[in-house]
Amino acid sequence: MDRIGIGIIGCGRIADMAYEGYRRIPGVHIAAVCDADERTALRRHSEWGAKAHYTDYRRLLEDPAVDAVEVLTPHTSHVEISLDAIAAGKHLALQKPMTIDRAGAHRLVNAAASATTVCKVTENYIFYPPIRFAAQVINEGFIGSPSSISIKLIAGGKGGWQVPPSAWAWRLKEFAEGRGMQTFDHGHHLWSTARFLLGPIQKVSAWIGTSDSVIDSPATIMWKYRDREAFGVCEYVYSQDMEIPSNYYANDEWIEVFGSGGLIKINRCTGTMLSGPSVSLYSGDGWRHFNIPSDWKLGFIGSAWNFIRAIRGEEKPCLSFPQAMEILSINLAIAASAQKGREVWMASDGSMLSPLSVYLKKQGELRKAQAAKKMLLETAGAEAIDRSSELASTKAAEETSSLAVRLTRDLPSRINATRPMREDIEVGLELSGAAFLGGTKRMSIIIRGGGAYVDEDKLPPNPSIVIKTQAAVWAGILLGKHAIESAYLHGKLKLTGPVQTALKLKKLFCL
Ligand SMILES: NC(=O)c1ccc[n+]([C@@H]2O[C@H](COP(=O)([O-])OP(=O)(O)OC[C@H]3O[C@@H](n4cnc5c(N)ncnc54)[C@H](O)[C@@H]3O)[C@@H](O)[C@H]2O)c1
Repeated sequence: MDRIGIGIIGCGRIADMAYEGYRRIPGVHIAAVCDADERTALRRHSEWGAKAHYTDYRRLLEDPAVDAVEVLTPHTSHVEISLDAIAAGKHLALQKPMTIDRAGAHRLVNAAASATTVCKVTENYIFYPPIRFAAQVINEGFIGSPSSISIKLIAGGKGGWQVPPSAWAWRLKEFAEGRGMQTFDHGHHLWSTARFLLGPIQKVSAWIGTSDSVIDSPATIMWKYRDREAFGVCEYVYSQDMEIPSNYYANDEWIEVFGSGGLIKINRCTGTMLSGPSVSLYSGDGWRHFNIPSDWKLGFIGSAWNFIRAIRGEEKPCLSFPQAMEILSINLAIAASAQKGREVWMASDGSMLSPLSVYLKKQGELRKAQAAKKMLLETAGAEAIDRSSELASTKAAEETSSLAVRLTRDLPSRINATRPMREDIEVGLELSGAAFLGGTKRMSIIIRGGGAYVDEDKLPPNPSIVIKTQAAVWAGILLGKHAIESAYLHGKLKLTGPVQTALKLKKLFCL
């Protein structure tokens, strides 16, 4: 589709950014505007050079000059307007959050699944260049394995652009219903960012206070990721007497992600409180700073391009409706956690788990851990750990010793490509076992330039670390039947060198 006519439904405060997004895209024009308030509709009609204006969005949906709509109305109207837009065969970009509950979100997801047009939720933060750059840096392994994200949001009582009282009015009603303008409305951006950077979230815990019975700050929100051992924390502050330098809302945010090998900081988002580089990276060998373009409106421009490219079949819409429902589910879990005063777990479809199912899930995990431990004790490797001296004189000990050597030789093929090792490490390994000549087998594991090789019958001249253990214990570790930490803590494995290096090896070889 070369020429695309956009209809804007809801022409209030943030519609300025939607217009900013579309006005520069070749082949795209504002065909019509609609606002329930006629004066607003008329004003935007002339400001944006639209061909038509309406006060009833249904009339706009009947306009054949409109191919695609951006919906920028209060949250409670999103479902109805979006379902009508899909039914009218229009491409749809719906402002975040998609709606206020999962029942409405389900209806939207189902309608989008059978739509022939593009449906997306506009979430500008995941198109904000510093956040996209940080995602790339993290994915390429520059900070190692991420374990923590921290987001700070500060809102001031002064500064930024004018927000009309009408835009506060419907938000105050939402606040009274438990969906605060910071943690729910603005929170959508932060949970999208947290999700976009590090993956799906499993559970949340929230304390949400209020400084003046209007703004849901101060607030502290924590979460745990589902697929990695990583945690997040977001702190909201409302500094009523402070002016925040900003061309948009009187807010600013900064975000830090820490990993096993470094950290990355996004130094500003909405405002310009921190001048200088917008992104800073520390990766063990010092700081590097990047002047990634950081005007907040670039997120809207990126999102508008994504919508148009999706309509032209050039890329996938983002957020898709199922992705947006995932973010809404996080929003709802956070509100529920603060209200109930306990952590809230989510199933993988985003639904909240009851305290009973969380208890049963934890019990299930405990049972699994106990069963695994039992199995461990029953396996030859584990028995060897506990009775290695007894086995030393038997054929089993010989087999275990040769198994330990074979598994060590295979280590280079086990390198975890997702956790590349940036430094060179030379590991000395001294395995004891009666089957070895002189009772000891020495090996070297050399990790260099991201690869590894094994040398036999000698230790490296200057090892970074030396591991001494019985062949049976080592075989148990390499077979995944015994944790290296537990062997160390029980005195069955001795280390000369930093424990951190041993932990790096654990990650590198998936021990
Ligand atoms: N992406 C962002 O950073 C960001 C920032 C602010 C707001 N938003 C989102 O944009 C949407 C609008 O927020 P806003 O701050 O611009 O609100 P606003 O109150 O300034 O604007 C909403 C406009 O919609 C109009 N309206 C209400 N019901 C309507 C209907 N049924 N038909 C046509 N017009 C109708 C109102 O008259 C008003 O002009 C919300 O979903 C909000 O969460 C996103």
